[in-house]
Amino acid sequence: MRQDVRDPFTAALERARQEAYPPGEYVGQESFLSAGEIRRLADHARIGPGLAVLDVCCGVAGPGRLITAERGCRYLGVDSSPSALRIARELAGDLPCRFEQGSVPPLPDEGFDVVLLLETMLAFPDRPAVLAEAARVLGPGGRFACTLEEGRPLTPDERAAMPDADTVWLVELGEVTAMLRNAGLTVVWQEDWTAAHAGTATALLGSFRAHEADIGNRVGARAVDELIAAHELWVDWLGSGRVRKLAMVAEKR
Ligand SMILES: C[S@@+](CC[C@H](N)C(=O)[O-])C[C@H]1O[C@@H](n2cnc3c(N)ncnc32)[C@H](O)[C@@H]1O
Repeated sequence: MRQDVRDPFTAALERARQEAYPPGEYVGQESFLSAGEIRRLADHARIGPGLAVLDVCCGVAGPGRLITAERGCRYLGVDSSPSALRIARELAGDLPCRFEQGSVPPLPDEGFDVVLLLETMLAFPDRPAVLAEAARVLGPGGRFACTLEEGRPLTPDERAAMPDADTVWLVELGEVTAMLRNAGLTVVWQEDWTAAHAGTATALLGSFRAHEADIGNRVGARAVDELIAAHELWVDWLGSGRVRKLAMVAEKR
């Protein structure tokens, strides 16, 4: 079962996720980001009241809902998964969040002050197309804020070990910086979150193992095996430096 069938997954993983993050740091994110890191990225992207924010690959929009509630921005989340968006809409309640279903690229034909791409750069084999779209929808001085899974592309053996490897495309920093530059986006802030995300991956792995039987009953044995196998690899790769996790903000000239 792939995670784009989100309803059983979100419910099955909720308790394990809540237990894995330090108090106050779990806000419905489907990733290694903490609430503190989401706020830090929002600070550097200068997200404030009334600004138009596009959250590309928002999933159930844990980060998006946090940012909208705390910053008073105007928020649009885009994701290809109808079930993730159904959950996102329900959880957003009265927050001024809009959601649109679609496969990226392209991005919606609107103007934005900030474009977010959180924990999903690795899902795109064709990054220049996504970055060009981000630049197209940003106004002058607009910010593109993302996290980046940085490293040499996976080897055939690594791809064979990673479940859903067709959604894991690593890229090296120099290449991404050049792609951003070509898209008209200049990096203005960058921080290395590898150690923190290795810690989060380790905590999630421990929690998924502790709840393995219950999760397996709800999503099936194969899905829980893959979930654990993927997290074992992330713990190894982030812990050994095979993959770095970087946070970045790039500004449109
Ligand atoms: C790991 S989740 C991250 C969700 C959210 N950004 C977060 O940090 O909690 C990745 C999301 O990207 C979506 N996604 C992946 N490729 C996509 C594409 N080409 N177009 C639209 N959504 C995509 C998936 O459906 C999923 O909801």
